[in-house]
Amino acid sequence: MSLIPTTDRLLLGPGPSPVLPRVLQAMTAPQRSHLDPDMLALLDDLRRRLHGLFNVNAEGIAFAVSGTGSSGLETAVANVVAPGDRVLCIVTGYFGDRLAQVCERYGAEVTRLTGEWGRAIDPEQVRVAMEHAPFRAVTVVHAETSTGVLQPVQAIAAIAREHGVTSIVDAVTSLGAHPVDVDGWGLDVVYSCSQKGVGAPSGFAPIAFNAATRAAAKSRSFYLDLPLLEGYWIKRGYHHTISTPLVYALHEALAVIDEETMPARSARHARVHGEFVGALAEMGLSVLPPEGERLWTLNAVRIPERVTDEAKVRVALRDTHGIEIGAGLGPLAGKVWRVGLMGAGATSENVQRLVAALKTEIG
Ligand SMILES: Cc1ncc(COP(=O)(O)O)c(C=O)c1O
Repeated sequence: MSLIPTTDRLLLGPGPSPVLPRVLQAMTAPQRSHLDPDMLALLDDLRRRLHGLFNVNAEGIAFAVSGTGSSGLETAVANVVAPGDRVLCIVTGYFGDRLAQVCERYGAEVTRLTGEWGRAIDPEQVRVAMEHAPFRAVTVVHAETSTGVLQPVQAIAAIAREHGVTSIVDAVTSLGAHPVDVDGWGLDVVYSCSQKGVGAPSGFAPIAFNAATRAAAKSRSFYLDLPLLEGYWIKRGYHHTISTPLVYALHEALAVIDEETMPARSARHARVHGEFVGALAEMGLSVLPPEGERLWTLNAVRIPERVTDEAKVRVALRDTHGIEIGAGLGPLAGKVWRVGLMGAGATSENVQRLVAALKTEIG
């Protein structure tokens, strides 16, 4: 008997999100090797689409790192941060802390600017920190998946620029759902993943460097070295054996985004998030962040006191209703459920299905 699943599971956790049949289908197209002309033409078009999605001009670069979102994180850090550099890491959740840890591993002298889990940071705190000491870079998570909070990256990047500090932005849970605008917002390096708002399976980390950060990139990592990666993506020399089916899937997912258009896609995510929060309110439930700081993609739902075993509810949702939601991370474990409504998963039907199942399980 094969262990490969044959039944559907509605993926409404923190990621991966559901993948459209046409994207899954693309993965079964005939195989090409990593230097085949067909593959190189596909990679050129993939880069073109990513330039559009990130809004980064031709002096900068947008492409996809082979690896999950964490490989994008590490590529950003590896190419910007050198041993001894001072880096300001904004930590208001689990993934902000991961960025700080990776900067430390790359030898940075890290200052953590910590904020409450579940709230956005006040950009003025960033200004104060930068006026206090010189930093090489600042790290910030646009969409903090552990808390469901959208951070004001545009304001933070503007302050960073005034101080000559390079901004490293994690857009893992925002790209393809919330607007992300590298050139318009003055961001320096931004990375994401393929499996959330973008709508492909995991395995790629779309990433964008603006012109200045691209030109200055220098890395101790071989696999994540930007000039070497450009050597493959642009100069067409072997660097690593990119995954053909994953390229097909990412390309198809980007085609879906271009067909829908980002403004319409963002509006869909905002609307579906609003429907979910409204339905929660009718059940007497709420999300952790205050209005105005909430992600559309990830809802951190406060677990009501009447639920004594939250894990049992998640298991029932999965095994009885075929729906996956996520548990809380770190200090929010046992306090919130994480419900992702992103990519192809952000639909009114999915909200209705989840709300009906939740009503059955917790009343
Ligand atoms: C904000 C954020 N950053 C980084 C990551 C790491 O991505 P991956 O698990 O794809 O390596 C995640 C994963 O969920 C995330 O939510």
